[in-house]
Order: sequence, then structure tokens, then C-alpha cells
Amino acid sequence: MTERSEKKKMQLEGKRIIVTGGAQGMGEATVKAYVREGASVVSVDMLEDLGQAVVDEANAEAPGKAKFIKLDISKRADVERVFAEAAEFLGGLDVLVNIAGVLRAMPPEEIDDASWDFVFDVNVKGTMLTNQAAFAIMDPQGTGGAIINFGSVSGLRPEVRGSIYSASKGAVHSWTRSVASAWGPHGIRVNAILPIIATPMYEKNLASMTPEELEVYTKNTIKAIPLGGKYGDPDKDFAPVMVFFASDASHFINGQLIPVDGGLANVR
Ligand SMILES: NC(=O)c1ccc[n+]([C@@H]2O[C@H](COP(=O)([O-])OP(=O)(O)OC[C@H]3O[C@@H](n4cnc5c(N)ncnc54)[C@H](O)[C@@H]3O)[C@@H](O)[C@H]2O)c1
Repeated sequence: MTERSEKKKMQLEGKRIIVTGGAQGMGEATVKAYVREGASVVSVDMLEDLGQAVVDEANAEAPGKAKFIKLDISKRADVERVFAEAAEFLGGLDVLVNIAGVLRAMPPEEIDDASWDFVFDVNVKGTMLTNQAAFAIMDPQGTGGAIINFGSVSGLRPEVRGSIYSASKGAVHSWTRSVASAWGPHGIRVNAILPIIATPMYEKNLASMTPEELEVYTKNTIKAIPLGGKYGDPDKDFAPVMVFFASDASHFINGQLIPVDGGLANVR
């Protein structure tokens, strides 16, 4: 292989990236893809053993490098401390990918304060805290940056069992649009991915359904995906999109909700 073709394969060489929720699912696929593309990555998650194992596997596939740090993204002081530690390890920060998120499903009339707070603390407050911490590091560098949040088709349509989750992802969409306008003039672009990808969260959600609920979900969501009629694969269908959004090739995309879902959602 020539030096030139080797270079071409490294789409993220020199990029310094924090990935939240890196221990499993889409976060795992993202951490591994970024290290394969030559990036330096700090993966954070609450699941320490899984998070460390993902980083070890990613490092075995160098040329990039990865480090794991345990973090609950809903705690401001912890986010600020861990992001400072990450930026020191990375030598700065170019990209934040805020994948960490949680799902609680129940009829709206049964929602209690604890369930509401749990979902909003991680999905909404965690998005604000991680985005603020990333901006605080990126802005003084003066070299711009990219922030990628995680919304959902659930934030665009009614969800009979998932109204807290749907409301939280709607908030992520609005936040993303607002900060994209506020931080665009600083050279920092902010977008949200709306995925439909087979992960532990997806499996857990299916397992929690009654046979009747599963039948409706299969018809309205799984079989309704125009490309293939099934959830996407984290490595094949999702990770390449994450590489694009971390790369300079996406530098003129800002404030958008991007479905990676085989055509299930239509964003206007
Ligand atoms: N799977 C899908 O099809 C789908 C659809 C729409 C949106 N999403 C969103 O995509 C993102 C990734 O989903 P996934 O399916 O890979 O989920 P997952 O549950 O498989 O993985 C999420 C990861 O986030 C971590 N996490 C949760 N709370 C955290 C916290 N407070 N601090 C740090 N880490 C925390 C978990 O430990 C886990 O490793 C989530 O934001 C989810 O809401 C997923």
C-alpha cells in the first residue's frame, strides 16, 4: 500500500474527540470507528468495566488512541472536572459526540417525579452540561469545533408509552437549533442525529413490551423503515455517518436534525 492510500483512509487524523455513552451501543461503534480513523478519543460513561473494555479493543486497532473516564453526564461539577481532564489528555478538543441517553416507558398518566427527573436529567440537562463544557474548551482555542447531540424520531411524533422520552428528545432538538445559532459565529457547529439503530437500549425496549405493544411497534416502526424494514447496524449503517460529522467534510452543516434511520422519519 502506498503512503498516499494509507493517508486517505485516515479521515480523523489529529482530531481530539470526547464521546459520551461510549460503553455500548452506538457509543461503542463510534469510539472504535474514530480510533480506526486516527482520532484521539476520550470515552465517558457510567459503565466502567464495559467502557474500559471498549477502549482497550479500540486501542488494539490503532492508529488512533482512546482513554476511558467514568462520568455521569447529569452532574455539573463532574462534567466540568472530567472534560478538563479529557482536554488535558487530548491536548484540546475539536469534537463532542453526546450519545449518552436513557429511556423510560410508561403511560403518561402514571409518570412520577423520579422517572421524569431521571430522563430529563440525563437527556436534557446532560446535553446542556456537556455542550457547555465543550464550548468552554473549544471557544478559547479559536479553531472552531463540532458538537453532535442525540435526538430521536420520538421527539417528532406521538409516543404512547414513551411520552417522557419523547418530550426530552424534543427538548434536545430545540436546544440543538438554538445553540447552533448562538455558537455558529464562534465557528462551532451543532447538529443532532436521530438514529434508528439496533443497540442494548433497543433490545431492552422491545423486551419491556407486551405482545400487543410489540405487534404495534413492529408494524409502525420496525417494518415501516423503508430501507430494509429493520433497525440499522451500529458499525455498518451508523458509524460512517459519525465519522463524517466529526470530520471537516461536514463543516458547513449546522443546526440540523439528521435522521440515520433508513427513511423512517421525515424532518422538515
Ligand atoms: N437505539 C435507537 O434506535 C435510538 C433511537 C433514537 C434515539 N436514540 C438515542 O441514541 C443515543 C444512544 O442510544 P443507544 O441505543 O446506543 O443506547 P444504549 O442504552 O445502548 O447506550 C447508551 C449509553 O449511555 C450511557 N449512559 C446513560 N446514562 C448516562 C449518564 N448519566 N452518564 C454517562 N453515560 C450514561 C449508558 O451507560 C450506555 O452505555 C441515546 O441518546 C438514545 O436516546 C437511540
